[in-house]
Amino acid sequence: MGEKDIYQHDVVIIGGGLAGLRAAVEACDCGADVAVISKVYPLRSHSVAAQGGINAALGNSPAAKDDTWEKHAFDTIKGSVYLADHDAVEVLCREAPETVLELEHWGTVFSRDDEGRIAQRPFGGADVPRTCYAADRTGHNLLNTLFEQASIRNIKFYNEYFVTSLVVDEETCLGCVALDLRSGKVYGFASASVILATGGFGMIYDHSTNSLINTGDGMALAFNAGVQLKDMEFVQFHPTTLYGSNILISEGARGEGAYLVNSEGDRFMARYAPQAKELAPRDIVARSIIKEIEAGRGFEGGFVHLDLRHLGAEIIKERLPGIRQIAMDFADLDPVEVPIPVQPGQHYSMGGIDVNLEGETGLKGLYAVGECACVSVHGANRLGGNSLLDTLVFGKIAGKKACNVSGGGDVPVVKNNISREINRLQGLLNNQGEGFAPLMSELKKTMFERFGIFRDEDNMNEGLCSLKDLRERCQQVAAQGSGKVFNQSLVRVLELGYMLDIAEAVAVSAIERKESRGSHFRTDYPDRSDDQYLKHTIIKQDKAQKRSIDFSPVKLGLFPMKGDADL
Ligand code: FUM
Repeated sequence: MGEKDIYQHDVVIIGGGLAGLRAAVEACDCGADVAVISKVYPLRSHSVAAQGGINAALGNSPAAKDDTWEKHAFDTIKGSVYLADHDAVEVLCREAPETVLELEHWGTVFSRDDEGRIAQRPFGGADVPRTCYAADRTGHNLLNTLFEQASIRNIKFYNEYFVTSLVVDEETCLGCVALDLRSGKVYGFASASVILATGGFGMIYDHSTNSLINTGDGMALAFNAGVQLKDMEFVQFHPTTLYGSNILISEGARGEGAYLVNSEGDRFMARYAPQAKELAPRDIVARSIIKEIEAGRGFEGGFVHLDLRHLGAEIIKERLPGIRQIAMDFADLDPVEVPIPVQPGQHYSMGGIDVNLEGETGLKGLYAVGECACVSVHGANRLGGNSLLDTLVFGKIAGKKACNVSGGGDVPVVKNNISREINRLQGLLNNQGEGFAPLMSELKKTMFERFGIFRDEDNMNEGLCSLKDLRERCQQVAAQGSGKVFNQSLVRVLELGYMLDIAEAVAVSAIERKESRGSHFRTDYPDRSDDQYLKHTIIKQDKAQKRSIDFSPVKLGLFPMKGDADL
């Protein structure tokens, strides 16, 4: 192994989705030598799947003329069930209009209203129409725009490289080690700053809208390096995913006026949320659907209908072409004529790597942005349209901060780590135990059944025991296939390790929070308890891999607490 096995850059960004690319563009514009490592070609990152839109108080809609960043912040905090940090929400909402306009100037093709302005549609939990959109392919548009911006800069891309560990020495992150999937060779990356932008962990759940690549890699890398994770119990279930395949059916459909209807033809959200109806916050709509199904008012198999027919063919084709196509391709129906069968599915993680307003983790030199991070703008329940915004606002800030330090990490330390990783990977290839697939299925089933929309102590404790059992079995899991080139089995085994780390963090945090708040609904503690639980859950792991739970205060101050969402 020689020097050539190590790449040196000022800033290494792990993840090529919106958060990673926005950080890369900013760091590059600040003069840093920047690299992006991505386990897929960047345009295949999960940001591409975002549909409904991005929030900003532009006030373009006649119904939102007086919209302000403060109103956006208020809705966000209320929707978060008061667990979002007010200072972070202020940054998110203040920066939103400029962020959307910047992307527009770079080329994002936002949909237009009749006056030619960026169109804005209503979204759940928002007081006024505030969600800017590019039909129902907003993530696709934004990601292509940013990839173009990154590509015309001097940013080095390492595509189809899978990061297997961070390099940490004396409480500082000095780089990372990655497997080049095309050659099977292991490389070191020495850098002054590492930014994690690896997205969420939806694959630990059955019935997820997430891409197969969302295996919680960055969160697990940070956790295993001793960095704390925050609010991991808050897992969002999107109310409307296509029955069976769980492909996202955008909230944009309900924003445009689609109805949720049960098997009795009843528009049932009027009973759960008389004012907001289908546009109540996601946690409430998802729970309501499950209650209808459990009361025997769902359709056989366990779904309800999302009815768009009254919107008319023209609106559906112009504003919701993507979900129409999805319904036609995957359910063999045209929503212009037939309602879409939908059920809730795992969608987003509000928790993640604990970071400050500049994306810094507790480990020097390590930053995190986007869904893998928790800067605390979403609290216990994220409002639709705020995640794309989060990636861009905090990606930019972290990119700027990370390039303050230049230099290429510590080459000898990185080199030692390469040797260690080569041995570890060889060990996995030599394993003779069971295959990864049954373990992965059991993990997903356990998380869905024990840590889903409704939770209780006994069920969660049983779930945690199952996770521990899976961890034992995973010690000897076989990475079948000895080939070096695109050894997908090896990647799945590495991902399974990350997934188990994150699943346990979700489980332990969920058991610890003995109240109901936002997406964390406990049937044994059905009420919110601000006295005991108006605080963030912190989970960390020491060098001997011993886990501990702690709490940190919510940063308040922008608005007084004002009761529950107006339903
Ligand atoms: O429903 C959607 O289009 C999803 C939006 C979001 O998660 O922000």
